[in-house]
Amino acid sequence: MLEVGILGGGQLGRMLLQSAANYPVETSVLENEPDCPSAHLCHHFVQGDIRNFDDVYKFGKNLDALTIEIESVSVEALEKLENEGVQVYPRPAALRIIRNKISQKQFYKDSEIPTANFIVTTNREDLLKFEEFLPAVHKVGLGGYDGRGVQVVRTTEDMKNGFDAPSVLEKMIDIAKEVSQIVAINERGETALFPPVEMVFNKDLNLLDYQISPSDLNKEIIWKIEAISLKIARELKSPGIFAVELFVDKSGDVLVNETAPRVHNSGHHTIEANFSSQFDMLWRIILGYPLGNPSHILPAAIVNLLGANNYSGSPLYEGIRDILKMENVFVHIYGKRQTRPGRKMGHVTILNKDKADLIHAAQRVKHAIRVISEP
Ligand SMILES: Nc1ncnc2c1ncn2[C@@H]1O[C@H](COP(=O)(O)OP(=O)(O)OP(=O)(O)O)[C@@H](O)[C@H]1O
Ligand SMILES: [Mg+2]
Repeated sequence: MLEVGILGGGQLGRMLLQSAANYPVETSVLENEPDCPSAHLCHHFVQGDIRNFDDVYKFGKNLDALTIEIESVSVEALEKLENEGVQVYPRPAALRIIRNKISQKQFYKDSEIPTANFIVTTNREDLLKFEEFLPAVHKVGLGGYDGRGVQVVRTTEDMKNGFDAPSVLEKMIDIAKEVSQIVAINERGETALFPPVEMVFNKDLNLLDYQISPSDLNKEIIWKIEAISLKIARELKSPGIFAVELFVDKSGDVLVNETAPRVHNSGHHTIEANFSSQFDMLWRIILGYPLGNPSHILPAAIVNLLGANNYSGSPLYEGIRDILKMENVFVHIYGKRQTRPGRKMGHVTILNKDKADLIHAAQRVKHAIRVISEP
């Protein structure tokens, strides 16, 4: 049996482990929190810090292969392990390019992959020199996550809130649609493209409302999305799963926003909606098996279950029975012991062959379920 370790024990690791149960693989998870979503689904749980060199090195040195569910890991330890013969997905060199937004943007530029124009700023004072570049978006090089390393800069006044650390200042794009394209690529360079996913935002709250796949963008735009995503996966020279986030602007141009070198939250629906899920595909890659079929069986929507405002503590999934009564609705609870406002507690996948019915059902789910806490 192949012994495979996962760095990080969150929900992505949990879904990866659910899929691992079908294959001849013995799994280990490295994570600080012993009650994390992955802790009870793996064969071996190891408590430790994925950002610490020694913890990662010790964890990986007797394993056959390693993968990640988050980018903020000790790349140095992964490089050493790779040199000692451990197979790492993605390759540490690819991870090194991606995990810093500065090197990631530079990689797109050097590879002639369309992306928003940018300037590198070293600190806040430096940022103040680029007034003529506004409106723009300031993104911290290292350590941003879930939008926390991103700052919109429209005016000179906004510049004072910019990051006082090496960052990227990117031209503001007039976005028509945000799309995610997941690519699977194996050791032989064979690829499989999942149908693109469209993000639908709630304009009033500026929150991601739901994600829908396949998107109904026209063929030419989809070709651009696929070509850009394939080029990124190839140029990174690494087997694995890559989730490419892209912008379609008002003129129909396609620009890459960023790439995640791992399974991604925009691919949760592939568990039920596609012949082979993103998680299944990653195991096939790690195990050296043929790639699966990424095509969709039915169109799908994903609604995220975030902790409701004003509730903290042991979670309660209010309305879960109502949504499970609906046709083709699948609930994924991540098993987190505590809810907090905005925390990702689970997601719901909805399938429907009719797009209008699908959107309607996604809205219904959105309003029927709430993550609150026990009184
Ligand atoms: N150049 C840009 N022009 C316009 N909007 C942008 C630009 N860059 C980012 N955004 C907006 O900000 C959001 C977050 O940006 P980005 O994906 O780079 O950050 P992040 O920290 O990785 O966030 P997340 O983890 O949520 O993906 C994007 O989804 C998009 O809506
Ligand atoms: Mg993003």
